[in-house]
Amino acid sequence: MNSRAATLNETATAAPFVHEGIAYGCDYNPEQWGPETWTDDVRLMREAGVDLVAINIFGWSHLEPRAGEYDFATLDTIIELLHANGIRVNLGTGTSSPPPWLTTLHPEMLPVTAEGTTRFPGGRQAWCPSSAVFREHALALVEKVAERYGHHPAVALWHVSNELGCHNALCYCDDTAAAFRLWLEARYGTIDALNAAWGTSFWSQRYGEWAEILTPRLTLSSRNPGQMLDFHRFSSAELLDYYRLEAAVLRRHSNVAVTTNFMVTAHIRNLDYWSWAGDMDIIANDHYLDHRLADPAIELAFAADLTRGLAQGEPWLLMEQATGAVNWQPHNLAKVPGEMTRNSLAHVARGADGICFFQWRASLQGSEKFHSALVPHAGTDTVLWREVVALGATLDRLVEVAGSRVVADAAIIFSWEAWWAGDGESRPSHAVRYLDQVHAAYTALHQLGVTVDIVSPDADFSAYRLVVAPCLYLISDEQARNLGSYVAAGGHALITFFSGIVDEDDRVRSGGYPGAFRELLGITVEEFSPLLPGHVLTLDSGAAASLWSERLRVDTAEVVANYLDGPLPGIPAITRNGHRSGTAWYVATALEPGALRNLMRTIAEEARVTAVGPESAGTIEVVRRVNATGSYLFIINHGHDDVELPASGHELVVGEPIGRVVRVPAGAVRVIREDPAS
Ligand code: GLA
Repeated sequence: MNSRAATLNETATAAPFVHEGIAYGCDYNPEQWGPETWTDDVRLMREAGVDLVAINIFGWSHLEPRAGEYDFATLDTIIELLHANGIRVNLGTGTSSPPPWLTTLHPEMLPVTAEGTTRFPGGRQAWCPSSAVFREHALALVEKVAERYGHHPAVALWHVSNELGCHNALCYCDDTAAAFRLWLEARYGTIDALNAAWGTSFWSQRYGEWAEILTPRLTLSSRNPGQMLDFHRFSSAELLDYYRLEAAVLRRHSNVAVTTNFMVTAHIRNLDYWSWAGDMDIIANDHYLDHRLADPAIELAFAADLTRGLAQGEPWLLMEQATGAVNWQPHNLAKVPGEMTRNSLAHVARGADGICFFQWRASLQGSEKFHSALVPHAGTDTVLWREVVALGATLDRLVEVAGSRVVADAAIIFSWEAWWAGDGESRPSHAVRYLDQVHAAYTALHQLGVTVDIVSPDADFSAYRLVVAPCLYLISDEQARNLGSYVAAGGHALITFFSGIVDEDDRVRSGGYPGAFRELLGITVEEFSPLLPGHVLTLDSGAAASLWSERLRVDTAEVVANYLDGPLPGIPAITRNGHRSGTAWYVATALEPGALRNLMRTIAEEARVTAVGPESAGTIEVVRRVNATGSYLFIINHGHDDVELPASGHELVVGEPIGRVVRVPAGAVRVIREDPAS
């Protein structure tokens, strides 16, 4: 079979993932231990209430020890053992890391970096997404796995590969260049159209033949931004194509739901998951707290809300998180007692119907031996193990929450394409980073107690009272119209600086910034005026700001605040424009967090956005999940003080009736099945 042949139309009908209640699970890598440990493992899994276990994620070198020689004995035993103990299997296809014999036979499948250097085996995911030989061998393995276990009653879910693109999303080898050219031909049809899209008339970059086009390896100067943007698009599409090939094999042998684990987490940006989501039978995400960020718990909430956005509001699975420290950040912080439970229930509050971890038992060897696990090196007479068992019991008490949905009044637009293009090499300020600005907007709403959906620029905004577009640098005409029509019909929008600047070819929209939104915002920006790091501006509203300013003039908008100082004293920094039946606000600078929160409060009040929780510094999270029969109020207290909030109904975590007020101790979580009237 031509391994490049599978595209959308070859993937068959989706199958639902069915599970009673909230799944509780983990990655399990039993190959690291012998059979006595496996018996002990399943006993402990039962003790903890673990009911969904991901296996065979890195199984290839065990299943196929030599080319074409398969050995399923160990995997058979593990599956039967789990099944006999009532534990369902999330079955990996085993292809995420090729075995050494394969890379020895075919070193041409190894990935190549932007410098043109080959990355060698010895770690993991050492394969080029475009490699035909990798695809052929991997799909042969998937075929065997699917044939053997496709109808096994223990298999509840298929887990394609693992975190596709975690390390190998961007490969710059010659095979990739050939695949990139095919993708470009399909996108542009003619070389002239490509030249126009990439603006190759500048710097003598005009292409005469497809064969002249390469992957964007490092150059002496900055690289062509159109080529870079398309390389990101292509690389995301290439791995999605690979996912589809594996999924197509699985669907030929099995009716079980198919998914793969996304990486909606702070430091990964290479896959446009809006384009992937429709191919998943259930959305699954891996999330790790990033202690390099100002507030990792708020980023967790953002990632969970974005994952729910990818799931179109349907329940999703948290496929991996850590019980404590990871081992891949510069400083790997352990979780304090209770933090794992709070984090887990924050994911559930935001729509997860499954809470899983990497990994079951802490490795004694290998690269991840200092990564936390459900069973730590110190064993089960530990604070951590007791919390693992308690979490299993808590999730069991939330069985009725499964299937319910989160409803939000506000949305933030998020775009991988805007991220790729806006954070490009030649930009006005390298201190302006897309994700920081999205997080800033999200943090302001989070701290106001507002529940937010994270949506694509193509989403239907009509259900929202407020839509926020932070630093949405790249936007197509159609997407700009989508936001414009939402406001015209009575919606409220807040757009922040460096938005609406270019079209989908990264071509500046001329006539003044922000080209896509000038009319909607009733303003014209003549020039960007970024600031040096550390330079703080003051506005006449008293707000402080940094990073960015703009020479802005109002056309139809009213001025809400001007700069008092900095390079543009007296120039508008915040504007508000009535646009047909709605209102569009603009902020031309990076407001400091308190000022952004104040502005967001004003806008949210004007838009009549309902805050589900109280205003806090992010310490109190309140989210509601609803279903046909009622609603569940999640209150997560990350703070050091007990809090009391109005609620009435029945509390599920400790199991007690709530009259009018629920008390949530410091560090605790409460989930209230609300009385219908509340
Ligand atoms: C990723 C991988 C896992 C493991 C964890 C560690 O999520 O999928 O195999 O390496 O990271 O945090």
